[in-house]
Amino acid sequence: MKTRITELLGIEVPVVQGAMARIADASLAGAVSEAGGLGVIACGGAPLSWVEEQVRIARSMTDKPIGANVMLMDPNAAELAKLLADLRVDVVTTGAGSPANYMQMWKDAGIKVVPVVASSALAARMERLGADAVVAEGTEAGGHIGELTTMALVPAVCDAVSIPVIAAGGIADGRGVAAAFALGAEGVQVGTRFLTVDECTIADAYKERVLAAKDADTIVTGRGSGHPVRCLKNKFARTVRKLEDDLAQNGDELEAMYVGSLRRAVEGDVDNGTMMAGQSAALVRERATAAEAIAGMMAEAEALGALDLAATASANARRERAGR
Ligand SMILES: Cc1cc2nc3c(=O)[nH]c(=O)nc-3n(C[C@H](O)[C@H](O)[C@H](O)COP(=O)(O)O)c2cc1C
Repeated sequence: MKTRITELLGIEVPVVQGAMARIADASLAGAVSEAGGLGVIACGGAPLSWVEEQVRIARSMTDKPIGANVMLMDPNAAELAKLLADLRVDVVTTGAGSPANYMQMWKDAGIKVVPVVASSALAARMERLGADAVVAEGTEAGGHIGELTTMALVPAVCDAVSIPVIAAGGIADGRGVAAAFALGAEGVQVGTRFLTVDECTIADAYKERVLAAKDADTIVTGRGSGHPVRCLKNKFARTVRKLEDDLAQNGDELEAMYVGSLRRAVEGDVDNGTMMAGQSAALVRERATAAEAIAGMMAEAEALGALDLAATASANARRERAGR
């Protein structure tokens, strides 16, 4: 199928694998890209040498485009931005801020730039800066989140910009893909669904928790400190939430608890780690390869007649642009 997103990113199916810090390495990203979607290496919190190696490994796994994600608040964001330009990855997605300082450098390197946004105002700002597309990510998503739901955010962003929009947050099966296309998106970004695929290298215990999760099994920590994160409910998240009731008193203890908490979960400590995952964990019920997960989602979306929706949205957008 063709949408402006498949054309822009040079991919076969409009499915972007969401970056997942400390999780989305070459194993996952390479598999997703080889399956026709866009694999994205998560650089958040990682040393430059690791990023360079993962890009090299992913490129040895596939000739298709590979993306990388920069969390702009990371202390090494500037060095990382330069490295990705030097490596000429095909796509950069950005989170947690504005990529204004790096936009020209990435464009000069021929990189497509796709910021993640949580409001239509930010989406419009990103378009003015020269972004090629945006990911509109709703609060249902796993990891760091905004306030708006995918259902309200995606159409608002589609109305606010003329660059193509990728919907994210709560999409884990063909129904979600179909809904995203109906809202005007021309692609989807999926994180939680990919946590349990064979090529994802997190500990099995973390995968089992995702597979077992029901719709009300996620919790948001960090609202008080302005950095909300959605993760699965466990002993760690419940303790954090209790301590957050008195931030002034418990701030230091919380800071100390957070250090290494995602790494602990990734390594299998499901009681004392932050198991980031979105509400769509409830829809993830089986293990599969990345290719099977993508093919399953797209087949279900197609059966719902949604591929025509996306193609029509893209054609309309192209016509509108031509008429401007
Ligand atoms: C474990 C986990 C870690 C994440 N880490 C990042 C990250 O490093 N950078 C980023 O931009 N988004 C991150 N996200 C968000 C995803 O890229 C994606 O947008 C989100 O998972 C989509 O919603 P879903 O979880 O409902 O599929 C993360 C999500 C999860 C579940």
